[in-house]
Amino acid sequence: MGNTLGIRKYDYVEFYVGSAKQSAYWFARALGLEIKGYLGPETGHRDRVSYYLSRGELAFMVTSALSPESAEIINFISMHGDGVKRFALEVDCVETAFRYAVEHGGIPVRKPEVMKDGQGLVNEAAIRLYDDSEILFVNRDNYKGIVRPGFDQSPMVWDLHCEQPDLLYIDHIVGNVRTNEMNLWEDYFNRVLDFETFVNFGPGDITTKYSALLSKVVRSKDNLIKNPINEPFEGLRMSQIEEFIKEYRGSGIQHVAIRTNNIMKAIKAMRLNGVEFLQVPDTYYDQLRGRNLPISESIDDLQELGILVDFEGEGYLLQLFTKPIVDRPTFFFEIIQRRGKSEGFGQGNFQALFEAIELDQQKRGNLI
Ligand code: FE2
Repeated sequence: MGNTLGIRKYDYVEFYVGSAKQSAYWFARALGLEIKGYLGPETGHRDRVSYYLSRGELAFMVTSALSPESAEIINFISMHGDGVKRFALEVDCVETAFRYAVEHGGIPVRKPEVMKDGQGLVNEAAIRLYDDSEILFVNRDNYKGIVRPGFDQSPMVWDLHCEQPDLLYIDHIVGNVRTNEMNLWEDYFNRVLDFETFVNFGPGDITTKYSALLSKVVRSKDNLIKNPINEPFEGLRMSQIEEFIKEYRGSGIQHVAIRTNNIMKAIKAMRLNGVEFLQVPDTYYDQLRGRNLPISESIDDLQELGILVDFEGEGYLLQLFTKPIVDRPTFFFEIIQRRGKSEGFGQGNFQALFEAIELDQQKRGNLI
């Protein structure tokens, strides 16, 4: 079973950041990735620096500007802070995917382009997503080099002695949008990429005493690609989605979820690497013990590492969110393990995480 656009997988996620070198260090150490590629003046690019980091199927790129003329990067950062500029989808054919997307209402930002060097060629094209983000279609079947022409081996060989969390690949990518924009972007995904709506959390589903959100999950019809979209819902005080919109200055990507098949090991390693996670209240685990759930993990171990568990479909989910990894309370990572046939998003975990984020929001003085 395939999907209409010939999407094979999430490829990589690119962040625009203030200092690519320092961000590359964080990504390498926190997530246990290797710096595989570098683009900058030494490789013929005078306006920017990019590092490409990966391990197995998981890959990220961090890019920063070298001069005031690099307006695209500088404007993004001055507006949104460090954040996700684009995520790449590997497709069978960039031309075909781009043509389908644009014919169905996709906003083109980069026409199909072939980049060549001695290692072969890479095809890329992009459409717009949210305010200032992009979905990049990429194919490098005929390329033997690193990522794409312009990249070379990294000049940096850091021996970081980090713990290896053994993260696998991207599970889903979440956007936060303004009031009344969720249906618009749901429709955009469904028309432009021929996705379908999979989950719909309506009014009252995810709510605290003070605030609430609405959420829909769109996915490719073969369930390879999942893109939840959150929107604030009216509450007594500012919801965390409104806080994001205010701090990010608009609609954009809130978190990337990374799949693991051993969340205990992953969280333990990441904590030792210095990554901060959301605090889960002890009362959550007291309630969990009372429910007598058929899970293979010990609740004491889950509590020690602060991992959440929720039943969904014919299996269960283990999840945890990091604190924001950037200066503004905007972007964070999620670590997720799916046990059995659990392809969705548990409402109980969503609720618990919503509450945990709200606690931090309160500390920032933004629960007003
Ligand atoms: Fe998520």
